[in-house]
Amino acid sequence: EDAGRLGAFQARIDAEQKIEPNDWMPEAYRRTLIRQIAQHAHSEIVGMLPEGNWITRAPSLRRKAALLAKVQDEGGHGLYLYAAAETLGVARETLVEQLLSGGAKYSSIFNYPTLTWADIGAIGWLVDGAAIMNQIPLCRCSYGPYARAMIRVCKEESFHQRQGYEIMTVLARGTTAQRAMAQDALDRWWWPCLMMFGPPDGESQHSDASTRWKIKRFSNDELRQKFVDATVPQGHYLGLSFPDPALRFDEATSHWHYGAIDWDEFRAVLRGDGPCNRDRLAARNRAHENGAWVREAALAFAEKRRRKAAA
Ligand code: ACO
Repeated sequence: EDAGRLGAFQARIDAEQKIEPNDWMPEAYRRTLIRQIAQHAHSEIVGMLPEGNWITRAPSLRRKAALLAKVQDEGGHGLYLYAAAETLGVARETLVEQLLSGGAKYSSIFNYPTLTWADIGAIGWLVDGAAIMNQIPLCRCSYGPYARAMIRVCKEESFHQRQGYEIMTVLARGTTAQRAMAQDALDRWWWPCLMMFGPPDGESQHSDASTRWKIKRFSNDELRQKFVDATVPQGHYLGLSFPDPALRFDEATSHWHYGAIDWDEFRAVLRGDGPCNRDRLAARNRAHENGAWVREAALAFAEKRRRKAAA
């Protein structure tokens, strides 16, 4: 019976039909989606921290308003992703608990510090640019609630990417000191951004199953290459250079060839030993404790309304 069900499930996926929360699905499909959507949600929430650092120090009111809106968008993305994960039968409290206790993964990129205002430009341009490259195909992922959540997320990410590139443009056309700041930010963010796409295909343990289930439409290395191809000309347009002596355009393949990624650094960040892992977790825990009164007030209000309605 199970083989029949599995066959019918795979046939629906192959026919590009969406799987919805009440449909039968193999446990492994459910588990991998919970894993990926939860990690994605945590990334959005932790991703608010590096940029949140600069809200009080944005160089103008206009920059501050845009950055504030952007960081709020990330919070919103986290919330709809937690909601998408909940449709698979996991409680949001459980996921939040896993994040706060340090037991959950989130994107490696958010464990790097934001040292200057140029980092806000580089994050928008590069980090959000990488996120879009990975997330556009997720709009066609086989699981309906995740795919639909991605549509709005991608629209907002495109705005984030534009605001980041615009910051870089202003700095790159600015004074010598501003150009140096933009270059320094690119130098520090470039390699960690390439790591965002995950381990090389040969070491990506989830890729085979996720591709068969049409959760993944492109491999980690394919998306990384697309990102490099799209981004290098943008950097050159700004008059900036990339911190990779091996970077060169390969006429034969029409791709930008890039040098070796330091996977030891990636593994260290995943183990919790990146530059900011401890700070991020501590900041998230503090924010959760400071928000306790809001959760208590919301519960008390809901209870009051329930009693009124019952009376
Ligand atoms: N940072 C942290 N962990 C990572 C990263 C990364 N950049 N890349 C891969 N990993 C982890 C995987 O989560 C997996 O860990 P697990 O087995 O403990 O769950 C392990 O490394 C092996 O990697 P893969 O087998 O390649 O994992 P997967 O097939 O899930 O591919 C990917 C990884 C591409 C990140 C995928 O999960 C994905 O597309 N996720 C959705 C997008 C997302 O989360 N983006 C977050 C950053 S963008 C943003 O928030 C602005």
